[in-house]
Amino acid sequence: MIVLGVNAYHGDASAALLVDGQLVAAVEEERFNRVKHCAGFPRLAVEYCLAHAGIRVEDIDHIAIGRNPRAHLVDKVSYAIKHRPPVTVVADRVKNMLRTRSPKVGLATALGVDPERLRATTHGVEHHRAHMASAYYASGWEEAAVVSIDGFGDFVSTMWGEGVGGKVEPFGRISFPHSLGIFYSAITQFLGFPKYGDEYKVMGLAAYGKPDLVPKLRNVLRVGNGSFELGLDYFQHHTKGVAMTWEGEPSFERIYSDALVDLLGPARAPKSEVTDRDKALAASAQALFEEAMFEILDAAAKRSSSRRLCLAGGCAHNSLAAGKIVPRGHFTDLFVQPAAGDAGTALGAALYVEHHKLGRLRRFVQKASYFGPSFTLQEIEAVLKKEGVEYRVLDEATLAEQVADDLVRGSVVGWFQGRSEWGPRALGNRSILADPRRDDIQDLMNEKIKRREMFRPFAPALPLEDVGEYFEQTSPDPFMTKVYSIKPDKRATIPAVSHVDGTGRLQTVTRAENPRYYDLLKSFGKRTGVPVLLNTSFNENEPIVNTPEEALACYLRTKMDVLVMENAYVSRRG
Ligand SMILES: [Fe+2]
Repeated sequence: MIVLGVNAYHGDASAALLVDGQLVAAVEEERFNRVKHCAGFPRLAVEYCLAHAGIRVEDIDHIAIGRNPRAHLVDKVSYAIKHRPPVTVVADRVKNMLRTRSPKVGLATALGVDPERLRATTHGVEHHRAHMASAYYASGWEEAAVVSIDGFGDFVSTMWGEGVGGKVEPFGRISFPHSLGIFYSAITQFLGFPKYGDEYKVMGLAAYGKPDLVPKLRNVLRVGNGSFELGLDYFQHHTKGVAMTWEGEPSFERIYSDALVDLLGPARAPKSEVTDRDKALAASAQALFEEAMFEILDAAAKRSSSRRLCLAGGCAHNSLAAGKIVPRGHFTDLFVQPAAGDAGTALGAALYVEHHKLGRLRRFVQKASYFGPSFTLQEIEAVLKKEGVEYRVLDEATLAEQVADDLVRGSVVGWFQGRSEWGPRALGNRSILADPRRDDIQDLMNEKIKRREMFRPFAPALPLEDVGEYFEQTSPDPFMTKVYSIKPDKRATIPAVSHVDGTGRLQTVTRAENPRYYDLLKSFGKRTGVPVLLNTSFNENEPIVNTPEEALACYLRTKMDVLVMENAYVSRRG
């Protein structure tokens, strides 16, 4: 049984392929076409998934897309009757509806094959059910509360329910125009970060301010009674319609209205100085966001008999909030789908069809997130030779020793190995690594690799068995989805990955999941007594590198000291 899932005509286009219930390949289109968060049909991602599995389009039994234009029709019609949205908003929706309704034709057109050749049945899976499925089925848990929170999808922003006996059953939802994702994106824009996906900058900035503006923001986002709503005067997505550009990198028009400027003063101009007001606003928006999210999670916890939680939707990428869920006590375990944003609906839609619709037994548990392309040493050597770059091939033991030595000496290392990561985080296969003990890391990274705002923290990776020595919380997080508190006496040991509030968005690593990366952490620990590395994504103002050519190009145009691709070792230091 072959099920192809796609996220198409929407940000973070992607594809995921299930063969007999196992996830065999999953990847975002941006990794191939090099346009961040790109929309459109994920032609290259689909081609990769099929090629990896050795499957032709004719072999696909089911195609699942994480949208269903017919979902929530009653909500849509009653909203339209009550509020009469402007014609442009309606026209945009209809256009998107027509495209998503026929993924089969989209697939055939994109791959240049006759639609007649495709025998697959197509399924539109309602957007939030796709998000929920991406977390519930991937967790491997039999029972769990399941929550999806994002901007909007199929007219809904939030859905909560339960996964029981292999089925996903929603209990409740919050519909357009109310949305936590829209709230956070509006504040992100107001704070002068205009790009699609810039929300994590606000999350980083939040640690620098006090949440003094929460009382004012309570008019903008009202929380209570197991729900939340927007103060609609402060927004214009529901009146003007906020045009979204899906060609190239997605972008939104301004979401907030002039009333927000009246409330908070002028918006921060992009790239201008970050003021105390801006820091306080980031902290306040984060605090209120968490309050609203916990309100929804508590509502889910009350209805569900399970103390486990599966979380997805773009807002699940708020790792600061996610890290607080288990300590709050309503849930004992948390699984966050690493591709929690809309890319993950490709996987979720496929899993939903496989299990919820077709009732097939569950066989897949997501323990790691390496489902993209990999390259052989021979392919890598061919690239290096073509570019005339000198390299050595090192055996595994020597490689770990050599790179650990380099890191101790202050090298910044490009680390490219195995299959690329599914989801936005680099997890040791397309990573840039450095010594976390340094206290000049911002200067070093700015000088050598990429300029980034000082308030954005770098993340630590460490072996799972060492987590208790460095962090207050010890539950595994192989996907880097939660921010934990670093033990106070360890913060000075790893300053490069300790945020200003003493937290770190860690990745726990096991040898079973990633042996080469694990061995490097251990080798570094043997030399320094600190088995921790700084891990940031392997890129420079672009999507994460996907091929050896892109990794090498990034190495050559930056001042990275060392490049490792599989067992090939390249160094500027000789
Ligand atoms: Fe979504």
